[in-house]
Amino acid sequence: MKKGRVAVFLSGRGSNFVSITRAARAKGSNYTVRLVICDRPEAPGLEKAARMGIPAHFVDPGKFPGKFAYEASIRGLLEREGIELICLAGYMRLVGPVLLERYAGRILNIHPALLPSFPGLDAQARALRHGVKVSGCTVHFVDAGTDTGPIIAQQAVPVRDDDDEAALARRILRQEHRLYPWAISQFFAGRLQIRGRTVIIRKK
Ligand code: GRF
Repeated sequence: MKKGRVAVFLSGRGSNFVSITRAARAKGSNYTVRLVICDRPEAPGLEKAARMGIPAHFVDPGKFPGKFAYEASIRGLLEREGIELICLAGYMRLVGPVLLERYAGRILNIHPALLPSFPGLDAQARALRHGVKVSGCTVHFVDAGTDTGPIIAQQAVPVRDDDDEAALARRILRQEHRLYPWAISQFFAGRLQIRGRTVIIRKK
């Protein structure tokens, strides 16, 4: 079976990168992680990539005159590896036109809330402060906005009365680690179809 080729973009810890890569290495997986792209030299995810033997590139945004040139350079790395899908996993930048055009409909993101609630930063803390009883995570296609693209899958988790931000974030993260690899495998199985804002998941 020809496996789909994935690049993971990250800026920090990289736990979703690890779970995506572990799932890729499990028997029967239909994709492989070929590359990590990172915009922060101190990101622990870079170290994790090295340990897992995945080539990782720190691409310094400060070295380029603007987003266009920065993303054009990343696009070169992706094309060299024949990347078919970009998975944002804690990547703290908005994707710009260069990558959105080249990878139209082929960029995914995971967000630690049930979108469209609590897009952007500190989603778990804001959900907690708001007093929601249920939160969770969302995998969605990426468009030019902040966490606004068509939703592929969501997993709810309960919010408990004694939760603090860390406890809720941990409970959500456990589900992120299951949901994201699942969504990627659905993508490469050709089951995801975008119809306007709705993503249809076709059965086998
Ligand atoms: C996750 O909570 C993800 O939902 C959000 O950023 C965090 C990344 O965590 N987009 P990690 O770097 O994958 O551990």
